[in-house]
Amino acid sequence: MKIQKAVIPAAGLAIRFLPATKTIPKEMLPIVDRPTILYSVEEIIRADIPELILIAGRDKTSVEDYFDTSYELEEILDRAGKMDLLNSIRDIRKRIKVISIRQQEALGLGHAVLCAESVIGNEPFALLLSDQIMIGQPEQPSAIAHLTKLYAETGKAVVSVFQVPTGDVSKYGIVDLKEGGTGPWNVISALEKPEPGVTASRWGLTGRYVFDKEIFPCLRAIKPDTFGEYQLTDAMTLLAERHGILATTLVGDRFDARDKLGFLQANVEMAIRHPEVGAAFQEYLRERCARAF
Ligand code: UTP
Repeated sequence: MKIQKAVIPAAGLAIRFLPATKTIPKEMLPIVDRPTILYSVEEIIRADIPELILIAGRDKTSVEDYFDTSYELEEILDRAGKMDLLNSIRDIRKRIKVISIRQQEALGLGHAVLCAESVIGNEPFALLLSDQIMIGQPEQPSAIAHLTKLYAETGKAVVSVFQVPTGDVSKYGIVDLKEGGTGPWNVISALEKPEPGVTASRWGLTGRYVFDKEIFPCLRAIKPDTFGEYQLTDAMTLLAERHGILATTLVGDRFDARDKLGFLQANVEMAIRHPEVGAAFQEYLRERCARAF
């Protein structure tokens, strides 16, 4: 079954980015000149998925506004003949249909995904955490397209994983796999940001998933954690037991923009590659690195 819908949850509190995220969702923080979320939206469009379901937070409407028309701004750019800029903000609306849903309370990623159930119904869907930026080669399928292809071939839920450095295990969702060969591997269980020593696995989730309707009963069955959040990883453990989940690695660069350091690194990397400022920024970096910090 071809995947027609992708979900991007953007209703988290983003405590690691306060005070910037008091009123702005983390997904709208710019990587050079583009909101972080746009990288995931491009991935979805390149995978030929026509509909995006946004899970937006109660006090942060700018993600929804971003995908809406901005009459005044568009009119001004049109009159000024700034067609490149005009197209850059109009283009996205032509390429993907956006449906927005509110998560009334930030009750965790598992709860955010469950909020999309009424729109998704019985269809399989892609799920992308847009604070994980995946950049592949332009001629290669996008990261999420790799997962939708694997789903089409196997009919099983699919997640992407990477090898986490030992000291970083408690920063990621970690999955235990039936290892052997080059993958894809069967997932045995998943844990949300485990304390050091709790698991021997070093397979971290990269924020790209394909699920079908079987995830929803699992999301309804889980209990909140000690912080009151419903964790997707708990539902994944149930799904792995009941129906199976495959895990695969992906090629390409991954930038972890979930915390300040990763966000800064993503900005530096994308600035280096930027068609307009890249060369000047590289020059600046060379000059700056030659001086003491
Ligand atoms: P995180 O676990 O990274 O939480 O969410 P967060 O709120 O974004 O950031 P911190 O930990 O407070 O700094 C993973 C993804 O799930 C979404 C977030 O927007 C992010 O894309 N999310 C999380 C929701 O949509 N709703 C929630 O209740 C929690």
